[in-house]
Amino acid sequence: MKEYLKLTEEFLAHGEDFSFMEIALKIDTLKAVIDFHSHKYYLESSPVVSDAKFDSLFRLLKKWEEEYPDLKTNDSPTQKIYSAVQTELKKVSHSSAMLSLENAMNTDELIEWEKRIRNILKHDRLIEYTVEAKLDGLSVSAIYKNNFFVQGATRGDGQVGEDITLNMKTLSSLMHNVDFVKYGIKKAELRGEVVMFKKDFEDLNKKRADQNEKLFSNPRNAASGSLRQLDVSITKERKLSVLFFNMLSDDIDLISEENVNKIITESGFVSRPYFKKASSIEEVIGYCTELEKMRDDFDFEIDGAVVKVNNHDIRRSLGSTSHHPRWAIAYKFKAKEETTRLLDVIWQVGRTGAVTPVAVLEPVLIDGVKVQRATLHNTDELERKGIKIGDIVTIIRSGDVIPKVVAPMTEVRTGQEKKIIVPQNCPICETKLVKIADEVALKCTNSACPRQIEERLIYFCGRKGLDIESLGDKVCKKLIEAELVHDLADIFYLKKQDFYNLELFKDKSSENAISAINEARQKELWRLISGLGIAYVGVQTAKSLEKNFTSLDEIADANEEDFALIYDIGEKVARSLCDFFSKEENQKLIEKLKNAEVNTISKSVSVNDKLNGQSFLFTGTLQKMTREQAKELVEENGGKPTSSISKKTDYLVLGENAGSKVKKAKDLGVKVISEEEFLQMITD
Ligand code: IVH
Repeated sequence: MKEYLKLTEEFLAHGEDFSFMEIALKIDTLKAVIDFHSHKYYLESSPVVSDAKFDSLFRLLKKWEEEYPDLKTNDSPTQKIYSAVQTELKKVSHSSAMLSLENAMNTDELIEWEKRIRNILKHDRLIEYTVEAKLDGLSVSAIYKNNFFVQGATRGDGQVGEDITLNMKTLSSLMHNVDFVKYGIKKAELRGEVVMFKKDFEDLNKKRADQNEKLFSNPRNAASGSLRQLDVSITKERKLSVLFFNMLSDDIDLISEENVNKIITESGFVSRPYFKKASSIEEVIGYCTELEKMRDDFDFEIDGAVVKVNNHDIRRSLGSTSHHPRWAIAYKFKAKEETTRLLDVIWQVGRTGAVTPVAVLEPVLIDGVKVQRATLHNTDELERKGIKIGDIVTIIRSGDVIPKVVAPMTEVRTGQEKKIIVPQNCPICETKLVKIADEVALKCTNSACPRQIEERLIYFCGRKGLDIESLGDKVCKKLIEAELVHDLADIFYLKKQDFYNLELFKDKSSENAISAINEARQKELWRLISGLGIAYVGVQTAKSLEKNFTSLDEIADANEEDFALIYDIGEKVARSLCDFFSKEENQKLIEKLKNAEVNTISKSVSVNDKLNGQSFLFTGTLQKMTREQAKELVEENGGKPTSSISKKTDYLVLGENAGSKVKKAKDLGVKVISEEEFLQMITD
């Protein structure tokens, strides 16, 4: 993890100045760093960088991809939507993807957004906008058929969410019966946010504290935890509200956001607490600034303003990327600052041995979130900031990420503050720490350090590695603690009883863990390579190694010149690979993996471009495959799956009972084909 934080800082400090060569070499690392942070944020709900830094990384990647479109890949974080889909509630597919929003960090970026829109539209006519509050809650969808609420779902990963129909029915602000038919609407999907009022959040946490229950860290987590309950009586007890800000229907032309707002309000739903129409980007900026000043006046948390193009016709011309609609943007509010006391500094050891300081703070509430840990990055930064233990420090957090210490308030020092002692030895294994030239972090060079092994194992079993779901962070830690695992290969020698003996497992789950490990033996080689945690070798490099070599043995035997022949492998990576495979301990590890029948042979990672970058949209019920599979097929064959129709869509593929998209496609001149025809395009 520390490796990622180090890379994060490197990219933030120097990324803007990289040459093409550097970009080509490092873009995969940047993608991996963004992937890592997204995973932390969306799937583990424990982000480790500020929103602002994350946004800067994301924008750096976007800039590189815009400058060098050849470097853009389908699995880039700019093309993905992250979110956790829990399995306990039934899964439901969304009729069209629930997308994210692009962020504007300042008013200049709003102006740039308007320019981009004008460039696409190629006209100077008046564009009307709407400005409203960005609610910090849980994204949901509500489907109404013939005036009745029939299905509620969470956003999930954007494509597939969880069925929370019953839970949503317990919310007093959710209309069970409406009169949409009078507008000519038979079926409609409302999309919005479920929020918990700040006051209700405080009451809930007070009650939980009295009962010795774990507290929710902010109203959003409380809303999410309360809504996604199997027992709906719990949802009912927690006071939640739903506010809708989007409506989809194929039955009528909804005309504008203003009209949607009117229908939603007239139908009895809670109306948006702030909703303005603007006729110029200057007016938009005025409203965004006004809203930012009012941010604390609302009953619930808001974390920005959402600016949308009012007119739906214009929206259709603008379309969406796979990540966000082009017709809307979120204007993020400035991060919030607070002051508190630095109580202590602890030193964390990461997967690569990097040892980094973390601030232990006197708990303080920032924007409704209790903060008691903050990153201090590295010793250079400690020195630069001159922070001492006992100092009152300003901390900043934007959104819902791990905060960072900005600076000490030296003017209020009492003289009692103590110097931060930088450890000489690893806090875990006591090996003498070293500072490697050109690297900011202190390093524990003992690759057998228990914490490093733990972090490496977590990574090995994680999404970037063999992706063994049963072996999450907790289980990995337990396995090491119980001395059942000493190196990465040991997991392949575990028995059912080993799991059963760990407190975390029962009979069935022990069996599941073993079969998950068995499955992992057969996974693609790139997963194994990436999971090994070789310095500078992330998922992309691992994939490219699998593509260019026939087996792990061949990779291990290659020299720096061999690696130099591969386009996306640079000198540093090549050196690191040779270094890794030349070490006896690693050779032994690989032998041990092979003895456990772990796959070390490349599968044909074919680069096929049958669909030649053309974009495909699927509609209706497909007969031969699921939507997800169809999209994967498009990607595998070098095409682009899209989630909404626009002039830029190349093909609309029709399933059964396809709706009004066919007409739209014809109007826009998009080619319409059958599922059969699509399959023919990708068969040899
Ligand atoms: S409009 C993306 N309006 O923000 C399609 N979204 O970061 C149009 N959100 O998942 C969304 N308040 O759940 C819109 N007033 C608002 C919003 C809002 C909060 C959420 C939404 C979306 C997320 C994107």
